[in-house]
Amino acid sequence: MQFAVQTANPAKAETDCVVVPVFRDGDLLPAAGKLDDASERLIGQLIERGDFDAHLANVLMVPFAPGLCAARLMLVGLGERAECREAGFLKALDAASEALMKLPADDAVITFADVPLPGRGSDWKARKVLEAITRAGYRFERFMSSPAPAPRLQKLTLTAADNDDARRVDAGAREGLALGEGINYTRTLANLPGNVCTPRYLAAEAEALADESGGMLTAEILDEDALTTLGAGSLLSVGRGSVEPTRLIVMHYRGADNPDEAPHVLVGKGITFDSGGISLKPGAGMDEMKFDMGGAASVFGTAKAILGLRPEMNLVFIVAAAENMPGSAATKPGDIVTTLKGLTVEVLNTDAEGRLALCDALTYAERFEPASVVDIATLTGAAIIGLGHHASGLLANDDGVARAMLDAGETAQDRAWQLPLWDEYQQQLDSNFADLANIGGKPAGTITAGCFLSRFTEAYPWAHLDIAGTAWHSGDNKGATGRPVGLLTQYLLDRQNEADAAPDER
Ligand code: BES
Ligand code: MN
Ligand code: ZN
Repeated sequence: MQFAVQTANPAKAETDCVVVPVFRDGDLLPAAGKLDDASERLIGQLIERGDFDAHLANVLMVPFAPGLCAARLMLVGLGERAECREAGFLKALDAASEALMKLPADDAVITFADVPLPGRGSDWKARKVLEAITRAGYRFERFMSSPAPAPRLQKLTLTAADNDDARRVDAGAREGLALGEGINYTRTLANLPGNVCTPRYLAAEAEALADESGGMLTAEILDEDALTTLGAGSLLSVGRGSVEPTRLIVMHYRGADNPDEAPHVLVGKGITFDSGGISLKPGAGMDEMKFDMGGAASVFGTAKAILGLRPEMNLVFIVAAAENMPGSAATKPGDIVTTLKGLTVEVLNTDAEGRLALCDALTYAERFEPASVVDIATLTGAAIIGLGHHASGLLANDDGVARAMLDAGETAQDRAWQLPLWDEYQQQLDSNFADLANIGGKPAGTITAGCFLSRFTEAYPWAHLDIAGTAWHSGDNKGATGRPVGLLTQYLLDRQNEADAAPDER
């Protein structure tokens, strides 16, 4: 998607479609007012005659627009002015974006940057516009013999009030585009079937990202021999039952002037298929366990967004990739494995494999002396029970990182909700035979999974995101959401802004 920013009167814009948000009270926003003036009050009349009800996310296509240079006019309802917040703004924007993709329009002008939103500037709004448009243009049709025709839209022009505003809109749009592309990349990786997207496929993907980065990103792949030499017995135990070999994928983004500046590290769970292993899952819905690399996919997508934005900071992206299958060599309930950290783990349930893969990757992260570490994982079904599909679960050993993650989630509107990581829960992981067990029983499954990981993250400030409920949709629109790329990218950009604001404290 190409984008441009204009300060000129939108009524003069020669475009295939002009998109205009409208509040229910009929008081038109500045851009809408100009369009209304130029079109002999077309918008006002449509509202007065009851032909357009501006309820939230209602879209009316007006295929001719007399008086305007645009070929079409799209009105988008914003609902009640007094109730307009981020969620409503985004709902209207998504409806408009989806409607735009169905039009025979190569370009469009969109006037969403002048919607008043308490606490959000036009940079935020422009970012969301580009993100929404990029997401709406996404198709996953690689395996369809006759895919539907691709959306036509190639170019989007955003309107701005004046030159200062145009600079903010331009900066926001640039971020939104990079973010949207990162999100779509995450969706594609996660949507790929398990027989295509294997640990080796993800490793090749890291090498491809590095190749196209122009030297900003380097990739290092640890194969099973390297992991054996290293002592990553826990990660290796997960892939034992599969013919697909396990990989630890490490990508370095070096954007800081000072090469030694402490990096922020993201660690993704990359179980490319989770059958449960010997503790086999029930059959219904098992296909969705191809999404069990959603954490890894979000790490890749965030890396892609970062490569689009090139912030001046150092980052490390780690993916623990394995396939969890039953087989004669598979790890069995009761087996004891030795982690990279040296702690032994009694594997009481081979379906609690994510933590076994992640713990070694988290220990590996210590060598980078990180400023912070965030792991992202489709870790527990209990996260869906606790939070449903709206919030990711957050656990952290550091209040600063937790606050920063929650704030980033609000800004990105890709939200998380914190659960306690109190010591009282730790004893649920006691084992009679090893240093700890890999399951903590039924109560508080998301928390005890976090407790397990916390035993491996004592060396740095750390947060864990359980995205079991947020990484994909089930049902008719089954598919990856691209979450939490928005949250993660925002978290990282905020860390850079914070460092810029306090340069002496690095
Ligand atoms: N990948 C699953 C978690 C999951 C399940 C995510 C369903 C999304 C939907 C994870 O590996 C798993 O199987 N967790 C077990 C842990 C249990 C055995 C302690 C679970 O949640 O049932
Ligand atoms: Mn599992
Ligand atoms: Zn899993």
